[in-house]
Amino acid sequence: MANIINGKEIGQQIRQSIADRVVKLKNQGVTAGLAVILVGDNPASQTYVKNKQKSCEAIGMYSELIKLPEETQETELLEHIQQLNVRNDIHGILVQLPLPKHINEDNVIATISPEKDVDGFSPISVGKMMLGQKTFLPCTPFGVMKLLEFSDVELAGKHAVIVGRSHIVGKPMGQLLLQKDATVTYTHSKTKDLPSITKQADILIAAVGRPNFITKEHVKPGAVVIDVGINRNENNKLVGDVNFDDVEPIASHITPVPGGVGPMTITMLLYNTVQSAEQSLQ
Ligand code: GUN
Repeated sequence: MANIINGKEIGQQIRQSIADRVVKLKNQGVTAGLAVILVGDNPASQTYVKNKQKSCEAIGMYSELIKLPEETQETELLEHIQQLNVRNDIHGILVQLPLPKHINEDNVIATISPEKDVDGFSPISVGKMMLGQKTFLPCTPFGVMKLLEFSDVELAGKHAVIVGRSHIVGKPMGQLLLQKDATVTYTHSKTKDLPSITKQADILIAAVGRPNFITKEHVKPGAVVIDVGINRNENNKLVGDVNFDDVEPIASHITPVPGGVGPMTITMLLYNTVQSAEQSLQ
């Protein structure tokens, strides 16, 4: 029987300390503020954005939603970002991805001021992260690091295998684990004989976006299994990338879906935003 890593509870603990910092800032005359830009009406993005706003307000932050129609031109979107870059009441800027096809995502992300890039997606933030310099870390992998820390999972010298190489999760995840002295292996859709590699993992991170993809054939007994996937199965039920019922009996630790990594992503967004607000006073 594995230890179930409770992301809801760990996220709640971290949010409490963020709320304390928000109060401290208010006493100094600053309300931490996050601006979220949503282009178009992708239903999943609408849900994510609503949850981000609710979470901000719940801990006393200011949140502003800029909702733009699907046909918005790139130049207009860039103008919105430039305005937010210079506003004193906005400490974090997040452009919800994916963007409509006619907009160049790279241009958009690079326009966000690094001081307000609370998603940690801009080339400057990514470069600093690679160099181990102080910067905003991307929220999902940062949240996974917190889950591992709160669960007392040792990382130094351990073999971490990452399944998935996205810019948002897989790539930065490996980098953060490497900085904690794990030995990191990346795997992806072109990897040959995936189970032979994932079976070597002391820490297995599943970030592929395929429901129930990881089964006990992929997992070494006693491994720590972190499931970053959020998928809907044929019954419209939320499931992860890991077949939980199959893997849980042999893992030492495992994150459930929902209630594992999911709640940590927004928590770390709030964390980055309050940090940005604190830095605005320095
Ligand atoms: N779309 C899916 N995940 C994310 C995220 O973490 N940040 C942004 N901006 N868009 C996303």
